[in-house]
Amino acid sequence: MEFVRVASLAEIPEGEMRAFDLSSGRVAVAHVEARLFAFADECTHAGCALSEGDFDDRAATVECACHGSVFDVETGEPIDGPAQDPVAIYLARLVEGWVELADQPVREGG
Ligand code: FES
Repeated sequence: MEFVRVASLAEIPEGEMRAFDLSSGRVAVAHVEARLFAFADECTHAGCALSEGDFDDRAATVECACHGSVFDVETGEPIDGPAQDPVAIYLARLVEGWVELADQPVREGG
């Protein structure tokens, strides 16, 4: 598995999300305290960009702006519908202040 450097940590402020294009698709990165969560930036309901939704950094969930599906950003699992399938999860790591993402999902979405 290869890692791709996508941004400096400063470009993803705590409590916010940013999206990046990888060869395998667009990936959203959420910054929660000292942790980074990366997941496919495509809602499994009808494909809206989750990075344009509402990120709750306390619950570590994202709510899709289109029809309100809620996903756990750590597991990718849907918590609230209409989406029923999980989003793909990617590994994210921090290397000397740089955010790096695995170029393939560690867990496929639904
Ligand atoms: S596209 Fe996300 S809830 Fe419908």
